[in-house]
Amino acid sequence: MGQGQTLSAFLDSHAVDPQRKAVAAAVAAIAAGSIEISELIGQGALAGITGAAHGGSNADGDVQKDLDVKADEIIVAALKDVPYAALASEESDTLLDGDPSAPISIAYDPLDGSSNIDTNMTVGTIFSIIPNQPGVKPFTAPGSCQIAAGFVVYGPQTSLVLTLGDGVDIFTLDRKAKVYRLIRERVTVPADTAEYAINASNHRHWEQPIRDFVDECIAGSDGPRAKDFNMRWIGSLVAEVYRILTRGGVFLYPGDNRPGYGNGRLRLLYETHPMSFVMEQAGGAASTGRERVLDLTAKTIHQRSPLIMGSIDKVKRIELLHTDPSAASRSAPLFARRGLFRV
Ligand code: F6P
Ligand code: MN
Repeated sequence: MGQGQTLSAFLDSHAVDPQRKAVAAAVAAIAAGSIEISELIGQGALAGITGAAHGGSNADGDVQKDLDVKADEIIVAALKDVPYAALASEESDTLLDGDPSAPISIAYDPLDGSSNIDTNMTVGTIFSIIPNQPGVKPFTAPGSCQIAAGFVVYGPQTSLVLTLGDGVDIFTLDRKAKVYRLIRERVTVPADTAEYAINASNHRHWEQPIRDFVDECIAGSDGPRAKDFNMRWIGSLVAEVYRILTRGGVFLYPGDNRPGYGNGRLRLLYETHPMSFVMEQAGGAASTGRERVLDLTAKTIHQRSPLIMGSIDKVKRIELLHTDPSAASRSAPLFARRGLFRV
């Protein structure tokens, strides 16, 4: 393995048994589909892609954009020769059945962040691969059972972030050669970055522990965290995760009090499970605030889960604010502007 190595050479060295061969084939197929999606996005209106509503909504009620539908068709077509037992897509109501004796099943979000298409901003494709056990219904095991996961981010560069359960590697699309090449090996989440990401327009709907954490960030060097924070919200999960893998920080899409948002907005099987697997494999953490996301099991395909992920210290602090709400008031007076521990 080394910088510049192609994704296909990297996958070849992984494919040593039937299950790993299926994983390698699935990742290669998704990568091939993503090159097509990347080209479509790059062409935009020139290729007839405008980000306009397609006229329908997906199983979870999101308005479908033209590219959501096209990207889903591209991924299904790319996977046609891959031995899978079932596919779970954000864009279909039910599972797409394959060969029940196949070694793997795959969940994917063909186009994450689709509200960003018409604004020429970053979007992505997310995937999660689980082992299939003949006779056992797919997608009924906790997220810790994933054997591979990752995502493609269609930004100024198109990059593929991948874990095969042994660290995280990043590949960038070489547009001339139409292949992905390794650019970062064994990625680790920087530990002490003072950056957070949350959709602050939902402030009035948040539970108290989330308000307490954000208040601590806003209080900056005058607050209990004793440092100034920076805030970023891109509105594309893939872009937020890529940023955290690059420079650390924390992302929050918590449950809130809006109807239907008790478990936040993100979907477990093809958004929070794979991103949590990537985050843990890169030395970060992912939690609902109360439990590890990878310990959750889906009861329905489009089930949602809260997601708080990134640098371990921040995820742990947010968990503490959930399990011991007095932690917020305990630290606040001590660190207030003229408090005991202010220097
Ligand atoms: O797929 C859901 C998604 O588009 C994520 O990419 C993004 O993090 C989130 O929704 C944005 O949600 P909101 O519009 O509530 O800020
Ligand atoms: Mn999505």
